[in-house]
Amino acid sequence: MCWLSRRCKRSAALGCATGLGEDMDMQPFLLARRRKSKNANNTDDEPFILSASAGTMSAMTKIRHGQCVFDLADETVLERLLREGIRVPNSCRSGVCQSCLVRATEGTPPPSAQQGLKDSWRARGYFLSCVAKPTEDLTVVTDDSDALQVSAELVDKTWLSPTVLQVTLRPESSFPYQPGQYINLVVDGNLVRSYSLASVPQIDSALILHVRILPLGRMSSWLQAAQRGTKLALRGPAGECFYVPGRPTQPLLLCGVGTGLAPLYGVLRDALSQGHSGPIAIVHGARSPSGLYLREQLTALATSHPSVTYLPVVLTEEAASEEGSQHAAAPITAPIVSPLEDVIRTRFPKLGGQRVFLCGDAQLVTALRKQVFMQGCSRREILADPFLMANPTSKT
Ligand SMILES: Cc1cc2nc3c(=O)[nH]c(=O)nc-3n(C[C@H](O)[C@H](O)[C@H](O)COP(=O)(O)OP(=O)(O)OC[C@H]3O[C@@H](n4cnc5c(N)ncnc54)[C@H](O)[C@@H]3O)c2cc1C
Ligand code: FES
Repeated sequence: MCWLSRRCKRSAALGCATGLGEDMDMQPFLLARRRKSKNANNTDDEPFILSASAGTMSAMTKIRHGQCVFDLADETVLERLLREGIRVPNSCRSGVCQSCLVRATEGTPPPSAQQGLKDSWRARGYFLSCVAKPTEDLTVVTDDSDALQVSAELVDKTWLSPTVLQVTLRPESSFPYQPGQYINLVVDGNLVRSYSLASVPQIDSALILHVRILPLGRMSSWLQAAQRGTKLALRGPAGECFYVPGRPTQPLLLCGVGTGLAPLYGVLRDALSQGHSGPIAIVHGARSPSGLYLREQLTALATSHPSVTYLPVVLTEEAASEEGSQHAAAPITAPIVSPLEDVIRTRFPKLGGQRVFLCGDAQLVTALRKQVFMQGCSRREILADPFLMANPTSKT
């Protein structure tokens, strides 16, 4: 509740929910400000000024939210809003997932906080609050991203492995996308997470996601429990990790771990459906063979398309021999037991002229990005989607 004025209730209704109790360090100062404010006789039109440093306030950028104005110290707009108890969904806190969108209705957000957003969203003032440190005052709204969302129905769920659930969603209105891009799922208005698209519009009638179920993961557990017919909201699509036609003979290397296969599976089938004739290698890494889902489908694709090479890679030898091809109903490619980086180094020593897609675990994607560059791949030919998890300090 806003501490500055007798108009607390009104300011709360307008979206100001100052978390005074959360920041004990500020209390002496806040009390001084409160006393000052009581004598200030503010008119109804004046904003409530909340400041951590009265002396320097005028030099600081200000963020207006509803009837409250906050000065911004060395922190992002997201951090400041959360500090005031204002709910803003967020996840990666690195400018990647787009879950923390807010809109500037006055003032210009920093261009760096609008990178990767659709032009139409940028034009309307949307920006990523987790990386925004504006240098000019902004008026922001945090609750109108509904306008960017499309409603969808969960139409199917299938286990692809003991921990990977395939989730099929049917949007209730037009939802153009490129296979390999990602979307944001929005549940209850404040839980937002990104998932990559394994589906291809020309082949699949709905959106297909591969979701790794984390026992304590909020969204993945929600999806695991959700019944067919459940409604949820989608935002997006976003991301650059998709096939661009025009160079049909260029060699493509698609490399990912875990559910990093989702966008790669979309890109692979999209490239083939668009007549790509150059070599395509798909390298899928997992700790053990149980994580190598879609092995039959990828083996079949490699068999029917001589240009496609499928390399499943695992770290654990015992599980590899135990799971071999003996239990499979259809032929499956035997996994290579090796660190994924070594497979890329030895099988693809020279990557000049190739296009490389890297998806999945953020640490591995970062390491592979450097490695493939060192192996000769041009920076602009590397398309990477690191699956950044929610920052441990994330709260909404
Ligand atoms: C661009 C992009 C695309 C993505 N695409 C996909 C995709 O296609 N498929 C997919 O499954 N995910 C994808 N993700 C990750 C996804 O957005 C979520 O972060 C993930 O599903 C976890 O969300 P959650 O709400 O279930 O878990 P949260 O409630 O956010 O909990 C995640 C937290 O759990 C902790 N944790 C607990 N157990 C584990 C564990 N075993 N391993 C790692 N961390 C653990 C971590 O500290 C992490 O911070 C993508 C992310 C990005 C940014
Ligand atoms: S982009 Fe801001 S939380 Fe992910």
